[in-house]
Amino acid sequence: MRISVIGTGYLGATHAAAMAELGHTVVGVDTDSAKVARLARGDVPFYEPGLTELVARHTRSGRLVFSDDMGAVADADVHFLCVGTPQAGGAQAADLAQVDAAVLRLAKAMRPDSVVVGKSTVPVGTAERLRGEVREATAGRARLLWNPEFLREGFAVADTLRPDRIVVGVQDEADAAVLAELYAPQIDAGVPFLVTDYATAELVKVAANAFLATKISFINAMADICDAAAADVTTLATAIGLDERIGSRFLRAGIGFGGGCLPKDIRAFMARADELGVGTSLAFLREVDRVNLQQREAAVRSAAVLLDDTVAGRRVAVLGVAFKPDSDDVRDSPALAIAAALHLQGAQVAVHDPRATANAARLYPTLDYVDSAEAALAGADLTMVLTEWQDYRNLEPAATAALVARRAVFDGRNVLDADRWRSAGWTYRGVGVR
Ligand code: UGA
Repeated sequence: MRISVIGTGYLGATHAAAMAELGHTVVGVDTDSAKVARLARGDVPFYEPGLTELVARHTRSGRLVFSDDMGAVADADVHFLCVGTPQAGGAQAADLAQVDAAVLRLAKAMRPDSVVVGKSTVPVGTAERLRGEVREATAGRARLLWNPEFLREGFAVADTLRPDRIVVGVQDEADAAVLAELYAPQIDAGVPFLVTDYATAELVKVAANAFLATKISFINAMADICDAAAADVTTLATAIGLDERIGSRFLRAGIGFGGGCLPKDIRAFMARADELGVGTSLAFLREVDRVNLQQREAAVRSAAVLLDDTVAGRRVAVLGVAFKPDSDDVRDSPALAIAAALHLQGAQVAVHDPRATANAARLYPTLDYVDSAEAALAGADLTMVLTEWQDYRNLEPAATAALVARRAVFDGRNVLDADRWRSAGWTYRGVGVR
């Protein structure tokens, strides 16, 4: 099929490349000309394992092109909307400006008999509204489907090529046929294909993220109790996770969740529920958000304890500022928030991250960004592992001790072996672990 993908960020660029991989002819359209020029050269402007290879392969094969001109969609049969829906300034709700602008421009540029497929994460009710706009612009001919995306950063390529499920929201069940054809290789490989109404499809997306966020805040709340009761949250998580109804994944306690999705999605979900008059049904998500943000404050307090209550003037090595490993994304990163908070309290914060320092420096230019973990550790009064990159998991306590001024470590992701670090003379603190 001939496909257009509107918006070439983490979601759109990955989707465009994956569709080319499935054998379709794809044009990725973005208003950012610089980004388009880079992608057209097979150069992905953010870090996502495996994506550069995939984009390069298909820009070379000719199945994948990029353009900053919406006119480039004219030949496509199916158009995927992949633009961002960030948190609105000064509000909890999602900002739909990019979605609205893209639909308006797309509806004018596309063939009236083509199909628009929304993938952006939107408040329930958006697809129904956009359907009216699309139909009005095309004299009732174009169809709109909603096909939420569940990819994780760091695993975006694998998640897009082999998703857990494909969910399609439609107005008329027959409309789903076009996506059944497009995703045929995946459906044939056994990926469940669920067809539903618009509202359910939109809600599946935010409900999934709300559940994941709740799971993380649940285990972080347990970590607080473990701290107070001298118990161990890692063992607790392993033990409860062995119950298949609970499951062991997404039960890693630490400094909490961040990124461009979970935090803003649970807030937008609460805002939408309020508008629908059912805000109290999601009141628990306010607690989920609060517990999550509290983890950052607790980490700053732990740092102060490890520094004997004198933060100002101390040298702190921060290892990891990406919101998670295998990503260069620092949007709402707990690690970066903690680094910045310690800097504001007067600490000299030296930050290392294998991929994310350039993005972090744009948000917080006043931190000291260094290009090796050793440089961050040199002379440190406190070592903080805040993103669990493999290199940091592999740190040797004895070798690390030789670099720092004081052997104090805060393990914000509970990934270091506390006994080994303690035996090497370190004062170790994790999150809810002994
Ligand atoms: C999340 C969802 O996992 C995806 O399914 C969804 O498609 C995506 O949002 C989206 O809406 O686009 P992502 O933001 O890439 O994906 O990151 P996650 O892997 O969910 O991690 C989110 C945060 O939770 C990270 O900061 C991570 O460190 C933290 N986390 C995760 C924990 O603190 N503990 C855990 O056990 C798991």
